[in-house]
Amino acid sequence: MKILNVVGARPNLMKIAPLVEEMGRYPEIQQTLLHTGQHYDDQMSQVFFDQLGIPQPDIYLGVGSGSHAEQTARVMVAFEKVLQDDRPDVVVVVGDVNSTMACAITASKLWVPLAHVEAGLRSFDRRMPEEINRLVTDALADLLFTTSRDADENLRREGISPERIFFIGNVMIDTLMKHRERARGLGTPGRLGLQLGHYALLTLHRPSNVDDPSVFSDILDALTEIQRDLPILFPIHPRTAQCLQQFGFSDRLGTAPNLHLVEPLGYLEFLDLMMHALLVLTDSGGIQEETTILGVPCLTLRENTERPVTISEGTNILVGADPARIVAETRRILAGGSGAGRVPELWDGHAAGRIVAILRERSCQCASYT
Ligand code: UD1
Repeated sequence: MKILNVVGARPNLMKIAPLVEEMGRYPEIQQTLLHTGQHYDDQMSQVFFDQLGIPQPDIYLGVGSGSHAEQTARVMVAFEKVLQDDRPDVVVVVGDVNSTMACAITASKLWVPLAHVEAGLRSFDRRMPEEINRLVTDALADLLFTTSRDADENLRREGISPERIFFIGNVMIDTLMKHRERARGLGTPGRLGLQLGHYALLTLHRPSNVDDPSVFSDILDALTEIQRDLPILFPIHPRTAQCLQQFGFSDRLGTAPNLHLVEPLGYLEFLDLMMHALLVLTDSGGIQEETTILGVPCLTLRENTERPVTISEGTNILVGADPARIVAETRRILAGGSGAGRVPELWDGHAAGRIVAILRERSCQCASYT
């Protein structure tokens, strides 16, 4: 059984790691790891391979950055050649980045069976590039592995036949559970001059927050206010760093001495920082899920989320980009007003095992997945 696993960007790496490990337990599975090169900086990619023990990619497409069309097209052209040279029995894509969608389209057009891990998430906001990637990938996938029951429902509503949908849990949480204790012992907050439980951890990179100068400026206002009461550590994404400079906002950091900008961090250091933070401020998707498991309050700087279970069961609160709301919710948490939440169903560290069991079963039962 030949499986081709695809990664492209940072958030794919913690999702593929447990799958690669699990597939490695079965001699009958011959797996290939392909990296599109959508993320290429060491801190956005290589450090995750090293820390999570992911083997080096067998195939590297080196597509790099570009507009959405350019990046998607480059992945498709290069991936088509790979599939023509060596046809796998199934292509596995994870998450919702441009590489996910590009490889999904390419595999489908060549009739190569496609499995999508983390299927069915919907923000219902088509201005988000990831929402388009999710819709297209799910429409094409033969096997759809979901993290929550609401995702199953979204897929069924879109007319996807229930036999293709498998609620298996969350592979990203497999990775978190595996590395949690190792990360806890690293002492990252102390090394960065932070006091355990008395700082906020911030990530920000969504185009809707950082590409528009007036939105970005509002968020900076809120952060300037918050850092008076609570130090903020901000590992800054390359696109956000570019926008900060381009909009001439770098000078404003002088008025916010407790807002500490650092380079993007490794997986373990970031996990260590998350679990010891008073709260996390973010516009990322995955961090909403990780903070739910860690029981750390998460303020999500978006108007919507494709991960509603992190609100209904976890620690997540949507605050949008309105400075007054961001500051008010932070103050509420500072005053001790937050609950722990509970662990969503099947987020138990065994999602990859369930996925690989289904892939193996399907390969025994029939020649084709479709
Ligand atoms: C991508 C994903 C997003 C995910 C995020 C995590 C899409 C549409 N978006 O967004 O869902 O949450 O990754 O990080 O796929 N850059 C570098 N070095 C790198 C990679 C990027 O400097 O290694 C810079 C480039 O200037 C690039 C910009 O960051 O143009 C944006 O990169 P890109 O991959 O297009 O999207 P992300 O914002 O990283």
